[in-house]
Amino acid sequence: MSEPKFIALTPKLHDYVVRHGAREDEALAAVRESTAALGDIAVMQISPDQGALMTMLTGLVGATRAIELGTFTGYSAICIARGLAPGGRLTACELDPDRAATARRNFERAGVAAVIDIELGPAAETLERLRGEAGEPFDLAFIDADKTGYPDYYESCLDLVRPGGLIVLDNVLRDGTVLDPDPDDAGAVAIAALNEAIAADDRVDVAMLAVADGITLARKR
Ligand SMILES: C[S@@+](CC[C@H](N)C(=O)[O-])C[C@H]1O[C@@H](n2cnc3c(N)ncnc32)[C@H](O)[C@@H]1O
Repeated sequence: MSEPKFIALTPKLHDYVVRHGAREDEALAAVRESTAALGDIAVMQISPDQGALMTMLTGLVGATRAIELGTFTGYSAICIARGLAPGGRLTACELDPDRAATARRNFERAGVAAVIDIELGPAAETLERLRGEAGEPFDLAFIDADKTGYPDYYESCLDLVRPGGLIVLDNVLRDGTVLDPDPDDAGAVAIAALNEAIAADDRVDVAMLAVADGITLARKR
């Protein structure tokens, strides 16, 4: 193993990262604040620095077609929508109707509702339908729904993105539990196994980032 080269973030240092590396505007701050009022569940929302990264990645791949699995109250979808090329569209998949309705209101307030199509229902069904349609391939996929579904979502997204397109997987460190997943934690077990598979998957180039709860970038070859 090479000499470790990383720094552990403290809350203060993370705050520094957010203040210097993310430009969270009023619309996104309002989504963050209203989501925080929901209580502990707000932890599901991506952080501002990850949001800035999502906007940047979407722009870097020149995405005109993007898909998100797991929209919650819409923070990450707004970040992706803001990175789309002119004329671009985001398909936002969410299982829960109340969360989808909240996300729709937040998209309107953020001025991105016109470029986002919400798909209400299990992401697996939406992906299956999309694979059956001979539509344009996607440029970017963001996987952030139920963790046990990740292996299937990854395969579907690999089918749906173009060569050179990017799959972004969230929570790939699962709070560090991927090192020794509890057999009773099906999400951690699924993600640990998928991390192994992606690391050896010659269909993609890969970079795992120790940002937030861990993010894998898998670029289709
Ligand atoms: C971690 S949260 C997503 C957070 C969101 N990306 C954000 O930044 O605010 C996961 C979301 O996936 C949704 N979800 C869970 N299982 C799903 C499924 N089978 N299909 C679609 N969405 C699902 C949940 O309802 C939840 O809102």
